[in-house]
Amino acid sequence: MRPLIFAANWKMQVTPAEARAFVARFLELHPPREGRALWFFPAAVSLEATTTALQGRGDTRVGAQDVHWEPKGAFTGATSIPLARGAGATGALVGHSERRHVFGETEAETGRKVTALLAASLTPMLCVGELLAEREAGQTEAVVIRQLRAGLAGVSPADLQCVVIAYEPVWAIGTGRTATPADATVVHRAIRAELARLGASTRMSVLYGGSVNGGNAASLLAEVEIDGVLVGGASLDPVGWAEITGT
Ligand code: PGA
Repeated sequence: MRPLIFAANWKMQVTPAEARAFVARFLELHPPREGRALWFFPAAVSLEATTTALQGRGDTRVGAQDVHWEPKGAFTGATSIPLARGAGATGALVGHSERRHVFGETEAETGRKVTALLAASLTPMLCVGELLAEREAGQTEAVVIRQLRAGLAGVSPADLQCVVIAYEPVWAIGTGRTATPADATVVHRAIRAELARLGASTRMSVLYGGSVNGGNAASLLAEVEIDGVLVGGASLDPVGWAEITGT
């Protein structure tokens, strides 16, 4: 069975106390399953509570939603990789569309974060995806490939296998609109072709994200190109999340 990744992005929600309660309930509902890995991306202040609550569950990992590329310094409000690691993170989202389009993160900054995470032996989950206007203008693949190249610019072919890619069309995030499995597959194929050009020798995990829920997860995961899902809204309730992770 091909390994599947289920990643929960809690965004700016879930306090430390709520994370503890969520994990306790979720773990009752989701025993470890062969060939499935679970990621949780809580807010920075809830990293440690989430990590501690998940202790002993080797099928789970915790990551930061964003990191700065500098290890320390005068960057008020930012989370460095050592700070995230100290709170239990073993990876981080990079270039999530909200970082790019709400906070103005540049593609060059995304690349610096990926490189810094790899240098620290943490897993970057690099998010790429086009805006609705870009899709309508027929630019989807060009945008996604440009974001991939920028995000992976400093990454050696050997290190590529340590990176997880998440394709998240911006128009599908939090909108209730999901790419069809066939639409997602087209973009996933383009991503894989580019990863091969960049020198990836083994199959890298490429996830899909954007309004994934209990009703559509199975059909997306049935696509051979889709190695897992990155989920925001539908990961906030432990019962609903366990339904998805048990898909
Ligand atoms: P959504 O968010 O599932 O709420 O669309 C996905 C994401 O932003 O990663």
